[in-house]
Parts: sequence; C-alpha cells; structure tokens
Amino acid sequence: MKGIVFTEFLEMVENEFSYEVADKIIEENSLTSNGAYTSVGNYDNKELLMLVSSLSNHINKPVDELVHAYGKYLLKRFFVLFPHFFDSVESTFEFLDTIDQHVHIEVKKLYNDAELPSFETKRISQSEMQMFYRSGNPFACLAEGLIEGACEHFNEVITVKSEIEDNYQSATFTLTKEA
Ligand code: HEM
Repeated sequence: MKGIVFTEFLEMVENEFSYEVADKIIEENSLTSNGAYTSVGNYDNKELLMLVSSLSNHINKPVDELVHAYGKYLLKRFFVLFPHFFDSVESTFEFLDTIDQHVHIEVKKLYNDAELPSFETKRISQSEMQMFYRSGNPFACLAEGLIEGACEHFNEVITVKSEIEDNYQSATFTLTKEA
C-alpha cells in the first residue's frame, strides 16, 4: 500500500488527537517500516490495519468506524493534493464514474506499484446508482468513507447503503440522492 495512505492517516491522527497518540500507535506495533513512511514508498497494508487497531483501543471506537472516518478525511485531502481530478465533474455520481477508468489509472501512472481496487458503476435512475468494489485488500470501509466524503464535497444529500462481503474485499454501495 502506498505511503501516502499512511502519511495521511498519521497526519489525521496528529490533527484530530495528538502527536503523542500518533507516536504511541507506532511504538506499540513492531512495524517493519518503524513508522518512517514516505508518501512514495510502498508498505504492507497490514501495518495500516495494525495502526488503526491500536487507535481503536486508545480511543474506544470500532475499527470499521475509524477506517470509514479516515476515508472521509482522505477524500478532502485528495481534493487538496489532486484538484484536477475534480475539475471536469459536477456531481458525486459523475465523479464516482471516473474513479476506475480515469482517476485510478492516472494514479497507477504516478505510482506504478500502486495496488488499486476495481470499481464498476451502474446508474439505476437519475437519483440512484450502484458502485461495486472488489479488491485484494480489505478496504471496503475506506471506500465507503471516500464515497461519503465525495457526497459532502459535492454538497449533495445522498444515502449510502453498504453491503460488505468477502472479509471487506468486496462491497456493493447503493447511493440514493434526495430530490
Ligand atoms: C481524487 C480521487 C482519488 C485519488 C487521487 C485516489 C488515489 C488512491 C491511491 C494513491 C491509493 C493507494 C494505492 C495503493 O495503496 O497502492 C488509493 C487506494 C484506494 N482507493 Fe482511491 N483515489 C481517489 C478516489 C477514490 C474514491 C472516490 C474511492 C471510492 C469510491 C477510492 C477507493 C480506494 C480504495 C478503497 C483504495 C484502497 C486500496 C484497495 O482497496 O485495494 N478512491 N486511491
């Protein structure tokens, strides 16, 4: 998993909790990286799950909830770091349609060792769409948070129903837009 996912996570922990908590969750785990992540490096995604699980113990919140919250935070950061991906789209549905065939393809050009999930989208009607997530990594809750982050970014009231399966490696998200 790319280092940017780790550096952004630790930055969120520092901002929302403290440097001490960020240090503690690194120290508590015997990480091959020793917690010295660089955004272009590549690290075992299990390390991210170890860090989240330590944070979960410290602040008494479930792991799923924390991964979801991180997804929402990360979407905001992607807008700051990669604003051009948001330039030509005006709605959540339009944006989500571009992830698999455009955004993640460009990400792969940028970091050729990135391990990206696959997404399919299906428009059910003007107000409803489905997004299918499949990955070798167990990050369905991250996808869910990123989707909700996108709804917030485009300032749209959308209900997201998630059916997560296969040990978090696949999911169907049904998005329904309020009239
Ligand atoms: C500007 C928008 C986006 C950018 C720049 C971006 C970029 C990235 C990057 C750099 C990674 C790390 C790859 C690796 O660790 O090897 C990643 C992973 C991931 N992305 Fe995106 N992404 C964007 C939008 C989204 C959205 C909207 C979703 C959800 C619908 C999404 C879902 C995921 C998931 C779930 C992963 C974790 C890896 C996995 O599950 O296999 N991304 N993305």
